[in-house]
Amino acid sequence: MTEPLKIGIAGLGTVGAALVGILQTRRAELAVSCGRPIEIAAVSARDRGRDRGVDLSAVSWFDDPVELARTAEIDVFVELMGGAGDPALSAVEAALSRGLHVVTANKALLSSHGLRLAAIAEGEGALLNYEAAVAGGIPVIKALRESLTGNRISRVYGIMNGTCNYILTKMEKEGLSFEACLKEAQRLGYAEVDPAFDIEGNDTAHKLSILTSLAFGTAIAADDIYLEGITNISIEDIHAAADLGYRIKLLGVAQRTESGIEQRVHPTMVPRESVIAQVDGVTNAVAIESDILGELLMAGPGAGGNATASAVLGDIADIAKSRPGAQTVPVFGRPVGELTPSVKAEMQSHEGGYFIRLTVADRTGVFAGIATRMAENNISLESIVQRPKHHDRTDAPQTIVLVTHATTEDSVRRAAASIRSDGYLFGEPQVIRIERPRTR
Ligand code: HSE
Repeated sequence: MTEPLKIGIAGLGTVGAALVGILQTRRAELAVSCGRPIEIAAVSARDRGRDRGVDLSAVSWFDDPVELARTAEIDVFVELMGGAGDPALSAVEAALSRGLHVVTANKALLSSHGLRLAAIAEGEGALLNYEAAVAGGIPVIKALRESLTGNRISRVYGIMNGTCNYILTKMEKEGLSFEACLKEAQRLGYAEVDPAFDIEGNDTAHKLSILTSLAFGTAIAADDIYLEGITNISIEDIHAAADLGYRIKLLGVAQRTESGIEQRVHPTMVPRESVIAQVDGVTNAVAIESDILGELLMAGPGAGGNATASAVLGDIADIAKSRPGAQTVPVFGRPVGELTPSVKAEMQSHEGGYFIRLTVADRTGVFAGIATRMAENNISLESIVQRPKHHDRTDAPQTIVLVTHATTEDSVRRAAASIRSDGYLFGEPQVIRIERPRTR
């Protein structure tokens, strides 16, 4: 019998416990497809006494994940603790530094320290696999890192946070409040330990920074990402978008522009008939536009124990099938020394359509004033509609919704500033960018 591949798993939360369960119940099938058994040799977690619904009696226990990364009992270190810093960082560093292959689902860690870790892995001839870090079970890392080699990529965008997509879908379909939908997402195990990471867009930004590097061959530049979360999106926006033929999604977008690489995460209106607009609930979707292949769109479960464990398992299986001394796949698709510094395209120069919702005083000249401010800034309008009031008081504010043709972020900000100074606006203008898929 071929020697088993011995793995050490650090972190037994939703994903870790799901992985242990799958490895135990599918042991025989995995041994056949990988050519050798995969054995859980050791684990580490915070609370040894917790019932996780899996049998760990025959497995070595480490209180300290860094000690687990150092033990001679394992061939592969699987990091499922999360977090950009310690203990995940020290543990992964310790494992790679002694040439152990590492599998991780940790997007925050890779976004902050990916280059350094990749350099260590490269120096030691170790694999650093992280399929589960982006878009849960969707094999987008493999697609970018291996399958699309040779393609020139122009844009990558997607729904990469299951919690946000679940909330936006549930708000739209069931008319529930933002808070109620978030609670449900947490109960179902989709959200991060701190759900602010989901709803403020940081989780999507971590994932986007990784995809950008893979897509454009650039060093990770997470600080270059323009970031807006979904906490500001109201039912009113969702309904106005629907009336105009759009749906609102939290997208991460990276695209090559004349002035550099644009990376942005924000609520986005997508045409209702586009495929990405149909992606509901915890499902994620990633679109990749490239010159040889054209547009590739992958959709699938983006969060939750089994979906994420499936991607982790695929990474472990790749290691089990690899032969000692064989060439390893570069962590970010090319050797670290070949990654170019990322040149940031400023958000001010972003070009696209915009949805602008204004709450204004209901008086003569306001409509004309708004149209004038748009024209002064060279913004051409696709539509401008006055939404019906909810009651007949003549002094009640009025809602006006504009959709622009392609313009620049700078023009929209200037127009919004002028409208603000004109004295008829209540609150802040709600501005949502529109993204159009290339082909549908
Ligand atoms: N909190 C993340 C999400 C989990 O909601 O998508 C997967 O990264």
